[in-house]
Amino acid sequence: MRELTLLAQLTDTHVTDPATTEVLYADHNGRLAAAVASINTESPRVDAVIATGDLAQWGAPREYEELIELLAPLSAPVLPLSGNHDEGKRLRSCFPDHPWADAEHSSWVTNVGKVRIVGLDSTRAGESGAELDAERLEWLDVALSADHAGPTLLAMHHPPFKSGIDWMDEGGFVGLDSFIEVISAHRIDRILCGHLHRPMTAVVGGHLAEVGPSTAVHVELDLATDAPRRVILDPIGYRLLAVSPDDTEHVEDARWNIVGHTRYVDTGRAAFEPDWSN
Ligand SMILES: [Fe+2]
Ligand SMILES: [Fe+2]
Repeated sequence: MRELTLLAQLTDTHVTDPATTEVLYADHNGRLAAAVASINTESPRVDAVIATGDLAQWGAPREYEELIELLAPLSAPVLPLSGNHDEGKRLRSCFPDHPWADAEHSSWVTNVGKVRIVGLDSTRAGESGAELDAERLEWLDVALSADHAGPTLLAMHHPPFKSGIDWMDEGGFVGLDSFIEVISAHRIDRILCGHLHRPMTAVVGGHLAEVGPSTAVHVELDLATDAPRRVILDPIGYRLLAVSPDDTEHVEDARWNIVGHTRYVDTGRAAFEPDWSN
């Protein structure tokens, strides 16, 4: 039987308080429930679910209670990361057994089968953009330097590249050049991100970085410099990463084969401009 580790990535679930009066453009909680139900029916079974941040809409206690209820049916363990919409300490308290690095930031390292997954907290307090200061970069360098025979995945909420959708890039990424310097010195088999609310890929520091689809709503793909802040209810879903030993003899040093898939679980709707005032 072939050796396979199957990982799902959920991102930007933006779970809401069921009693919210906020104007929503999609049923975030219902859409997450649909994704969870779908993950549970994957065959072969998913070994772990990486949740790359913005798990709650505003970081409120009731939202996290709802998040835990929505994730409870998963048969695979959840590996959570904080996003700019999350409240880091509250998120950590929902997952008390998770191997958090320390009390100050929500980073972690864990192994799933032979796959090492490094979760890096890229949030900047009170801001939508990313920040990796010297302390977090030192932590990352140490984590990536530890001996490991299998593949390494790096998961983080903010993508380390500009999307070209200007209004999504406005938050910026403090410490990006230093981050790229650190990761360039290590073998990383895939970087998994969220935050951008639509799937995309880029190569950063010699590594493939991928953004997963949000389960809540997407932003419109509009690369014009004056693009309006439009949201679109594209079909939502989650990523699946199938990790197996590479038996391709003609590719030198290709020790692991990591194939990324996207599973769609809901249908879409045309683009529209939401009411940003609430
Ligand atoms: Fe988000
Ligand atoms: Fe975000």
